[in-house]
Amino acid sequence: MLIRPRRNRKSAAIREMVEETTLTTKDFIFPLFLLEGKNKKVAVDSMPGIYRFTVDLMLKEIEECLQLGVKAFDVFPVVEEKHKDKMASKSADENFFYIKALKEIKSKFPEACIMTDVAMDPYSTDGHDGIVDENGNILNDETLDVLADMALVQAETGIDIIGPSDMMDGRVEFIREVLDENGFENTSIMSYCAKYASAFYGPFRDALDSAPKSGDKKTYQMNPANKYEALIEAELDAQEGADFLMVKPALAYLDVIHLLKENNELPIAAYNVSGEYSLVKAAAEKGWLDGEAAMMESLLSIKRAGADVILSYFAKEAAQVLRK
Ligand code: PBG
Repeated sequence: MLIRPRRNRKSAAIREMVEETTLTTKDFIFPLFLLEGKNKKVAVDSMPGIYRFTVDLMLKEIEECLQLGVKAFDVFPVVEEKHKDKMASKSADENFFYIKALKEIKSKFPEACIMTDVAMDPYSTDGHDGIVDENGNILNDETLDVLADMALVQAETGIDIIGPSDMMDGRVEFIREVLDENGFENTSIMSYCAKYASAFYGPFRDALDSAPKSGDKKTYQMNPANKYEALIEAELDAQEGADFLMVKPALAYLDVIHLLKENNELPIAAYNVSGEYSLVKAAAEKGWLDGEAAMMESLLSIKRAGADVILSYFAKEAAQVLRK
């Protein structure tokens, strides 16, 4: 035998020397759930280890993460039912707690990279990402105005990246133009480019209480059976001015991450979603697998597939492991 691949695996030193993929805390964006009010930290039951924080406590959480080397955060609002309506009007209210909290976070930690979410679902009585008409249709073009207003109010807080997660057609260009017209040409857009109609968002919808009241999201989120359709979305979002292209979920869509990476010059992000987090946590709690090892292997696989940026609820815990 002339060729013995095992020679390159014979010691830790050699294994590390030939390692193709290295995970670092710089790869991560940590999603955070924001509560209205003060001094509250409420566990998300379906996501062990993840909490919803009021802004005062979220600032402490961010500080801890920064010390661990995690520098980017994606903040989602938990909106009480009393604030919701059909047009998601609180989403463009500059006095709403989410907007005030973003300002506070950005002024306390100007060095942190703060990303926000643009979609109607947390604020909508229908629980959909767009406007729902009387027949249950999700209106595309009418929704763009709502999304642009929301993006502008968020950009005014000084945040770094707008994250349109709604999957309406044409929204990247629409938002880009409104931002530019108002002097926010330096606010980035991370487009949820290939976002699939996935069962893995369940725990997130628990955390935000944002599940659709009727129907599903299949007329706007992508069919899990499709891969090449992601190239159409990627081309459009790149032309429309996106700065990053995201694939979501991550683990069940590693082929899509790879495909977009091979066919694009833009940085590719992958969202390791709530259900993917909870699977590992639940099995680890039962003692069915080594949770820490499974977490690190999941994150490494997402990077190996081609993701430059990983949004993950594991970010803080993984940073603690990487530090060891
Ligand atoms: C909604 C949104 C969702 C997630 C991020 N933004 C859920 C959905 O589309 O229903 C899911 C994130 C996760 O599961 O971790 N605009």
